Amino acid sequence: MKLLEGKVSIVTGAARGIGAAIAIKLAEHGSNIAFTYISDSSAEKAAALEIQLQSLGVKAKAYKSNAADFAQCESFVNAVLKEFTTIDVCVNNAGISKDNLLLRMNTEQWDDVMNTNLKSVFNMTKHVIRPMMKAKSGSIINMSSIIGVRGNAGQSSYAASKAGIIGFTKSIALELGSRNIRCNAIAPGFIETDMTHYLKEGNTAEEFLKKIPLGRFGNAEEVANTTLFLASNMSSYITGQVLSACGGLNI
Ligand code: NAI
Repeated sequence: MKLLEGKVSIVTGAARGIGAAIAIKLAEHGSNIAFTYISDSSAEKAAALEIQLQSLGVKAKAYKSNAADFAQCESFVNAVLKEFTTIDVCVNNAGISKDNLLLRMNTEQWDDVMNTNLKSVFNMTKHVIRPMMKAKSGSIINMSSIIGVRGNAGQSSYAASKAGIIGFTKSIALELGSRNIRCNAIAPGFIETDMTHYLKEGNTAEEFLKKIPLGRFGNAEEVANTTLFLASNMSSYITGQVLSACGGLNI
């Protein structure tokens, strides 16, 4: 059974990693996909993903757009509406980490992480709710992190941005529930992607693995499955929630 037949979904930062897995999963379930990538260096990957998504029988288009930039998000959403007419699902996935102990962190690092991870969610949500309110339907899914729930030494900016996403998500759920727009967050644990590649070095991986009841890192498809659930009507009575996909790390 396809869960998103004929729907239109946006995924930010989808050229690789979790975002790419989400775009593929939603397309496998019949959703048309508009996704973003940020730099020319990811243009080739974005073009390849566009073709892969189209081969699944849906309409798919890659847009170069910086999620941290309000005006670019507005142009992106307008372009999607022109091309796809509606927006049913928005997955705010784009994110970065610039980990450092607070003693060594500078304001530029802090601002980059807050703008890319948190302001981006405001930028996109502000623009996608317009068509969703008109349609009296929508699902917004924000990629938080277990680090935003627990905190982590050396990750204060990342943790603050991801905790901010949770507060934003719950507030938007309260503001827009009456319009039948749902807003939920996903808090992945340690997922094997380029972002967490460094964890595999040295003893860090072993240390983390000891804390995960399921005894392994997660993979991008497992986060994509969680996203599919929140995007589809399978979760029609769920809003304002943080769904952890973390192998039990937050027990
Ligand atoms: P990744 O680094 O492989 O992918 C992030 C994507 O976002 C990249 O394609 C990047 O180009 C894009 N991006 C970065 N800044 C952007 C911007 N300003 N505008 C548009 N796109 C931008 O990382 P991964 O692991 O796939 O992460 C995806 C999301 O999941 C992020 O929000 C991350 O914080 C979150 N997450 C990841 C976890 C993990 O263990 N990998 C754990 C918890 C959360």
